[in-house]
Amino acid sequence: YPPERVRNFSIIAHVDHGKSTLADRLLELTGTIQKGHGQPQYLDKLQVERERGITVKAQTATMFYRHTTVSQNSDAPRYLLNLIDTPGHVDFSYEVSRSLAACQGALLVVDAAQGVQAQTIANFYLAFESNLSIIPVINKIDQPTADPDNVKDQLKRLFDIDPSEALLTSAKTGKGLEQVLPAVIERIPSPPGKCDSPVRMLLLDSYYDEYKGVICHVAVVDGALRKGDKIASAATGRAYEVLDVGIMHPELTPTGVLYTGQVGYVISGMRSTKEARIGDTLHQAKITVEPLPGFKPAKHMVFSGLYPADGSDFEALSHAIEKLTCNDASVSVTKETSNALGMGFRCGFLGLLHMDVFHQRLEQEYGAQVISTIPTVPYIFEYGDGSKVQVENPAALASNPGKRVVACWEPTVIATIIIPSEYLSIMSRNFVIMLNHIFSQRALLKYRLPLKEIIVDFYNELKGITSGYATFDYEDSEYQQSDLVKMDILLNGQPVDAMATIVHNQKAQRVGRELVEKLKKFIERQMFEITIQAAIGSKVIARETLSAMRKNVLAKCYGGDITRKKKLLEKQKEGKKRMKRVGSVDIPQEAFHELLKVS
Ligand code: GTP
Repeated sequence: YPPERVRNFSIIAHVDHGKSTLADRLLELTGTIQKGHGQPQYLDKLQVERERGITVKAQTATMFYRHTTVSQNSDAPRYLLNLIDTPGHVDFSYEVSRSLAACQGALLVVDAAQGVQAQTIANFYLAFESNLSIIPVINKIDQPTADPDNVKDQLKRLFDIDPSEALLTSAKTGKGLEQVLPAVIERIPSPPGKCDSPVRMLLLDSYYDEYKGVICHVAVVDGALRKGDKIASAATGRAYEVLDVGIMHPELTPTGVLYTGQVGYVISGMRSTKEARIGDTLHQAKITVEPLPGFKPAKHMVFSGLYPADGSDFEALSHAIEKLTCNDASVSVTKETSNALGMGFRCGFLGLLHMDVFHQRLEQEYGAQVISTIPTVPYIFEYGDGSKVQVENPAALASNPGKRVVACWEPTVIATIIIPSEYLSIMSRNFVIMLNHIFSQRALLKYRLPLKEIIVDFYNELKGITSGYATFDYEDSEYQQSDLVKMDILLNGQPVDAMATIVHNQKAQRVGRELVEKLKKFIERQMFEITIQAAIGSKVIARETLSAMRKNVLAKCYGGDITRKKKLLEKQKEGKKRMKRVGSVDIPQEAFHELLKVS
């Protein structure tokens, strides 16, 4: 297939607008997968992806399609179509930008009833900035509340998309699907690239396979890649031999070669995905080539400590983390020790969802039981001597007692929110709005806020005040100077380093109060009295006391049956597995989660 017969495209959409279903239908239509293959959302391979209905890793699938609109007979030209499925969440926006860099076009899927939502806008601009040809697809037209004309109007007003360009489909009933691939061929340009240059390709994503080692997904930009070729990484300079190369059709299908403009996989003896950096350029070894633009190392926006739920499991957790980072090289890991939780790891994630997914995978795929500390964002502190440090662990601030803090900065985001316009007045009472744009009874709002706010229950709160109608997305923005202080939590006078947080000075009083009240609810009463305090420096700003449990409580409740009592105690013990003993106080994992919601 010469580049003229190749099309590389992606599907972008707001969550639940039908991206995965449409992808499945296109794979079926081209015979790439069997109809009713019993595995919906073919491209979402990980368990977390299926359960949460999200795409975490980029996937590619190659389809072959005879373009019969041009000629009805059997000599109609055949095309090689590469669908590059991208993660839909802002945490992965770098990965998305790299996947889009391998495409020349995108299907912008919009739900015919819900219309344009926050992620539609974010995704549209990502595609638009990558100069992609955008094909609007108004999906779910089978729904009784579908209003495709209204959606066309929104697309025109917001993105200046000509209404006549929109395809109307139902990925459920199959209506309109026959127009999609002809539109891909006719409206999306073929990949550019020089066929007779030395090979140069973009690394889209990588996986670790027990048997095959690291599998890289690549888009060949120039030249051709053949089995046996020697290639090198522009980022690391390391050289490899191509052991296997082929297409995803939809599983690994060896072809021995990938030509200019094609997308597929390559196996080259890499030992860890840490060697396969997303966005890197792989090229013919021993020559200098211009790396493809846009490569960036992973940027960690959320940090959290991970500790074994049971102290003796440190080695097991260490092994699980090592295995998982082999598959997800975008997590940073350093060992840390906490006086409260013992030995563990400080991990940096691309965002909150990425962190959650990592936890879930540790538990589901590696059986690890972890206690995670309150997530924090990377703050920057400047000291009197002019030195600046990035603080990834609030507890670490204590290790600079001699230094006076003179300034602090925190990362911010630009949030995009879409709400029905009747909620506008409520919103403007709560937030300082940068942009306010009304279209078809909806308001598009943009404003800047600290990243930390997003980590705290922001989206739920927003959904709460808008009766669930708001949709929300955000992008990274710059650091802003803020008045920040470190808040310690003390149990019976002892600071619990794993519970230290950094908060805005003017909110410290309120946050401190709420924190100790929450903790009082979550820490179970014990045989002795427990004082719970929040303090800034040596000043205690809030205090609660948890009174001691009376010794005969159990005897009183359950009468004399000793075996029953034992059973109950056993059961209680099981339920308490995820506890950490700090000094003499047992703290359940929920306490850490609850603290997060306050700060
Ligand atoms: P994420 O993977 O979470 O981003 O969502 P998605 O955009 O991939 O949406 P998905 O394909 O998972 O579809 C979301 C829901 O909409 C599923 O329950 C689908 O069955 C349903 N759905 C998809 N297409 C249609 C359609 O054309 N009509 C109707 N009525 N439902 C549809």
